[in-house]
Amino acid sequence: MAPMSLHSLPPSERTFATGVVLALAAALGWGLIVVFARELRPVSPTQVPPLRSRLVAVLEGVMAGNVSPAETERFRAWAAAGATREGFAQVEAVVANNCASCHGQGGQFPRLARFEDVRPLALEAAPEGLLGLLDARTLHLIAFPLIFLLAIGAYLRRTAWPRRRLLMGGCAMAVLFDAGQWWLRQGRPEAIWAAWTALAALAVAMATLVTVVLNELRKPKET
Ligand code: HEC
Repeated sequence: MAPMSLHSLPPSERTFATGVVLALAAALGWGLIVVFARELRPVSPTQVPPLRSRLVAVLEGVMAGNVSPAETERFRAWAAAGATREGFAQVEAVVANNCASCHGQGGQFPRLARFEDVRPLALEAAPEGLLGLLDARTLHLIAFPLIFLLAIGAYLRRTAWPRRRLLMGGCAMAVLFDAGQWWLRQGRPEAIWAAWTALAALAVAMATLVTVVLNELRKPKET
């Protein structure tokens, strides 16, 4: 059975639907700000190293089997000293010998071959607590698609707008591009255009969706 169209909803449900679609848009907006503010922040050469580096956390956690404690210590010292290019020599051999076999070009994500690949991880704070659950990858790959799926499934699909399928396709492309750009950019600072494009695509797709849905909800009920 086709879902009841937005057009024939009683007023109380229209109000509810308006609230939900605005809440979804706000959730997406919040996520975009959180994620892209962090990702687009330029890594300056004097950036203060975090108290607990993500790289070190990973080496003590899931990747512990690939390094000796002494090698982890070397990474820790390098990260704490600002993960500089000059200091990279002290960990370069470990990266080449212990990591590159799996994390080399075309291998396991993230790519860890060059200084430029390893430095951002060393300077990124290890995710903790709730924010750890909501880290960038979770937002890009799970939360953003979910928000669009809900907004499309619950509302856009039920509008009478003739171009809604086109817009659904546009939303899907924006979400897919966002997932793709994230992988595309790893260790490639010059690919930052992809992040801006994804941010703009997601924002435009959601703004259009909300406009279409609200427009439909505010139309007088047909009799
Ligand atoms: C035997 C293959 C292998 C080797 C060697 C290896 N890794 Fe990994 N690494 C993986 C796999 C598989 C994953 C993804 C699965 C996971 O996260 O547990 C991963 C994930 C990671 C991640 C992402 C995890 C996260 O939660 O952010 C980092 C960072 C990482 N490895 C760093 C390293 C470093 C640094 C080295 C070298 C000291 C290394 N790895 C050596 C296979 C390897």
